[in-house]
Amino acid sequence: MRCRGDTAIRRYGDTAISTYPACSGLGPDDEKAGKRSVTGHSRIRNSLLARRIVTAEEAAAMIPADANIGMSGFTGAGYPKAVPGALARRIAAADAAGEPMRVSVWTGASTAPELDGVLAATDGIDLRLPYQSDPVTREKINSGRMEYIDLHLSHVAQSVWQGFLGPLDVAVVEVSAITEDGHLVPSSSVGNNKTWIDQADKVILEVNSWQAEELMGMHDVYYGTALPPRRRPIAVTGPGDRIGVPYLRCPAEKVIAVVETHAPDRNTPFKSPDEISRRIAGHVLDFLVNEVKQGRLPESLLPLQSGVGNVANAVLAGLEEWPADGLTAYTEVIQDGMLQLIDSGKLDVVSATAFSLSSETVEKFNARAGEYRDRIVLRPQEISNHPEVVRRLGCLAMNGMIEADIYGNINSTHIMGSRVQNGIGGSGDFARNGLISFFLSPSEAKGGAISAIVPMVSHVDHTEHDVDVIVTEQGLADLRGLSPKQRARQIIDKCAHPDFRPALEEYYQRALHSSHGLHTPHMLDQALSWHVRYLASGSMQGD
Ligand code: COA
Repeated sequence: MRCRGDTAIRRYGDTAISTYPACSGLGPDDEKAGKRSVTGHSRIRNSLLARRIVTAEEAAAMIPADANIGMSGFTGAGYPKAVPGALARRIAAADAAGEPMRVSVWTGASTAPELDGVLAATDGIDLRLPYQSDPVTREKINSGRMEYIDLHLSHVAQSVWQGFLGPLDVAVVEVSAITEDGHLVPSSSVGNNKTWIDQADKVILEVNSWQAEELMGMHDVYYGTALPPRRRPIAVTGPGDRIGVPYLRCPAEKVIAVVETHAPDRNTPFKSPDEISRRIAGHVLDFLVNEVKQGRLPESLLPLQSGVGNVANAVLAGLEEWPADGLTAYTEVIQDGMLQLIDSGKLDVVSATAFSLSSETVEKFNARAGEYRDRIVLRPQEISNHPEVVRRLGCLAMNGMIEADIYGNINSTHIMGSRVQNGIGGSGDFARNGLISFFLSPSEAKGGAISAIVPMVSHVDHTEHDVDVIVTEQGLADLRGLSPKQRARQIIDKCAHPDFRPALEEYYQRALHSSHGLHTPHMLDQALSWHVRYLASGSMQGD
């Protein structure tokens, strides 16, 4: 029996969502009490939901053949580990039987081979959103066999609530436990799970006993968001503020299946920062020291936002030596460096929507998760990345890039203008709204064949208006308060690799003499010639 309540209750962010009319009793299948014994299911403490335990195969069979599916998962954390694989096997079998099945998969952000990888390999994903970093998925998108919508991560929930993405048929959400009263304790990411559960017709839960039980209490799920004109201020005035509840609400009658798992998150191995990353981090830290000296930042800085990867970890490692304590972070993911800063007493509190830890660090974390409960808040991604909060807190936004042009426009997503790499992720949420927006990258790629500083970017994710500081291992260009031509001077002189600097200078000088306008001088017939040359010859370097 399904008892979804009236439409008013499903309105975006209705705080009355907890007043879903109580559905009495169980559906016909549920009445088969004892279908699976609850004995030993210490993570599933609600007796009603314990009766819905099925295998991953049984759960996957309940998904409609053309479903829009909202899955949990953010940066390799908290994604369902069993149902996606079972769904992939079902899709493969349907294909073999000549009845192809295609689903759309929505997540929080990137997941893992057990989700994106297996499903993409079947050719069974029609549409994927909003961010991915999986090589098989990337190949399917770039070969035109999968549609992909790359959204700002804070915008996903409102797009779904506005109905632009169509109805959500099923949510498949990993949780770490189900409480006696049926509340869902999220696992290592929150992502879009609140929206998926609120919006989906049916919910499949994976209860993963590998996730630390002590995660209970770390989450802050806010049920006060709304679509205009019903929006109210999001009352987060400091990274550690809690404005919601530590669990996800889900009417029991929506839950059609519960699958038990015991499987680790993706947990990419930790790579010590290399020399290039250390040099980039060094420039960032020198800049921050000077900002404090100038009185523009407090000694404890402002809430940090940091992307993942080598460069981000190098910056965090460098902050171990920061002269003051009391640092904070309002960011998307918590990586190894953030936990180390908490352990060393430098970082007071971090707000994010997910963990992204190496295998070494995650074991230590799981053993002592409870100790971090006062220092870590995991929120839905629409709040962890909320423009209103990011602007209020004055985040220091640090993100990677593919390439920058001489005027400071940034390409974060596309290789040579047309092949998507990952997606914009949360970089736009933070870059546009943070107090200082940094973009960081090595000055060259592909062994020196490609310059990260180009005359004109081949795709624009962040315009010159949203970019304050560009950093490569060569140096740091502080673009604040500069006109386009002044920015070009800084970027060419400070950030370009010496192998490419003369050619950039030549392009700029010729543009100064032949451009149609001299506000942002360009030669349109040559602005993308570096990319064209790379595609033709395998190198941006001239003859
Ligand atoms: N032109 C062509 N290829 C380039 C390039 C350029 N200018 N710069 C990098 N690449 C290639 C690399 O060679 C590498 O290719 P490979 O996978 O074949 O080895 C690939 O792009 C990734 O580069 P890498 O140096 O490993 O970068 P990274 O892991 O630091 O990621 C981004 C850089 C931009 C892809 C990544 O930061 C990203 O996805 N950003 C957008 C989302 C975001 O900012 N999220 C954080 C918000 S909280």
